[in-house]
Amino acid sequence: MKTTIALTTPAQLETEALVAVVLNQVDPAEKSKDAKPHLKLATDDSSVQSAGADLLASGELTGKLFETNLLHNPAGLKAKRLLLVSGGPTKKFSCYELRRIAGTAVRALKSRGIRSLAFIAPAGIPGEQAVHAIVEGALVGNFDPDYYRSDRKDQKIDELTIIDSGNKSALEKAANEAQIIGDSQNFTRDLVNEPSNRMTPTILAERAKKMCQEVGLKCEVYGADKIKELKMGAFWSVAQGSDEPPALIVMKYEPAVASEKPVLGLVGKGITFDTGGISIKPADGMEKMKYDMAGGATMVGAMRAIALLKPKVRVIGIVCATENMPSGHAQKPGDVQIAMSGKSIEIINTDAEGRLVLADGLHYAKQLGATHLVDAATLTGAVVVALGYANAGVFANDDAMYQRFHKANEEAGEKMWRLPLDDEYKEQIRSTIADIMNTGGRWGGAITAAMFLQEFAEETPWIHLDIAGTAWVEEQKPWIAKGPSGIALRSLVEFVRSFAK
Ligand code: BES
Ligand code: MN
Ligand code: ZN
Repeated sequence: MKTTIALTTPAQLETEALVAVVLNQVDPAEKSKDAKPHLKLATDDSSVQSAGADLLASGELTGKLFETNLLHNPAGLKAKRLLLVSGGPTKKFSCYELRRIAGTAVRALKSRGIRSLAFIAPAGIPGEQAVHAIVEGALVGNFDPDYYRSDRKDQKIDELTIIDSGNKSALEKAANEAQIIGDSQNFTRDLVNEPSNRMTPTILAERAKKMCQEVGLKCEVYGADKIKELKMGAFWSVAQGSDEPPALIVMKYEPAVASEKPVLGLVGKGITFDTGGISIKPADGMEKMKYDMAGGATMVGAMRAIALLKPKVRVIGIVCATENMPSGHAQKPGDVQIAMSGKSIEIINTDAEGRLVLADGLHYAKQLGATHLVDAATLTGAVVVALGYANAGVFANDDAMYQRFHKANEEAGEKMWRLPLDDEYKEQIRSTIADIMNTGGRWGGAITAAMFLQEFAEETPWIHLDIAGTAWVEEQKPWIAKGPSGIALRSLVEFVRSFAK
């Protein structure tokens, strides 16, 4: 998708479709249920206002978020169509809604075979922020996962024009950055979308390597020998059960201008398929476990964005990629494994494999010099029980680190919610035979999984993102297709950039 900034008046622009945001001056949450919406276009342009006036006055619109209406040959405009997208109540309208509105506009128009649109940046949001949100949202909306369908139409918006006023080069810079981030998010979604027969650990490593070559990152890929040589007993305990070779992917971003410290370590869970191993999962829904490498794919995509945005801070990206399979070589419940850090782990359930590969990934990141750690993983079904599909779980062993992440997270417009890490939970993972067990029983499963990881992050400031409920969109939304979401990438990139500010 090509993006241009236009400082023209909307009425003068020749385009397939002009998009304007409609806002409701009444907040239905505050008024009685039958309070009529009072709708206004979020633009001062009088031609656009008069083109939409009859529709807004018709009483046919509800003003609900994402409501769309398409007018053909709008009077007084050079555009062939005028698409009105509702942004909900004016009071609650922010970049968060704007991103999704841009996605909604893209999806509404591309499904009609339209290939270009011009979006009027809404009044009320500062120009650069608005441009950033519109480009990101449009790119997210432009992605469709139906790769292997013979009837794939591959409908896409090829050209996005954003109409705004202000400093053109500042707006263009915002658009370029947002394009890098949005493209990287879609790059991640592409990886996650592939089924496990087409996204083995080896293929994931090849894709990471190719990306690194393209953007100028160092990339090292290690196999079983190196994993054993490094004494990654926890990672290997999962990999040993599969005929597919594992891959330890190490990507490095080392800008010459950055100081020695901090070094950020991004560690991703890359289980290309999770059968559960000997503690095998039920058949129902098991096909979804192809997305169990989403955390790893997020780190690969984040490294891409970082390499292109060039913040002045060192970053190491690590992905521990393997399948989790039952076989004659597979580990068994009751086995004791020694992690790279030297800690002994009693395996209670071979389906709690993500924390095993991450244990060694986190330790290795520290060994490579990481002073701050972030991991992302589709780690537990329990986080879905706790937070549903709307919020990812965030855990942190350091409040300052959490505050910094939280700020980045809000700017990125991704929903996440902090869950606790209290010492009380540690008892649940105490083992009689080893230092710790790999499961903590039924209650607080997302927390005990995080407590397990904390044993390996130790004193290093660390954030853990459990994206099991958010990495896959279960039902399509007006602004995003069903399938991989690319969650956490934008927050991670903002977080990394915050160290360079
Ligand atoms: N990959 C799963 C978690 C998961 C669940 C991801 C649903 C996406 C959607 C993870 O490896 C797993 O199996 N976790 C177990 C842990 C349990 C055995 C302690 C779980 O959540 O049931
Ligand atoms: Mn599992
Ligand atoms: Zn898993």
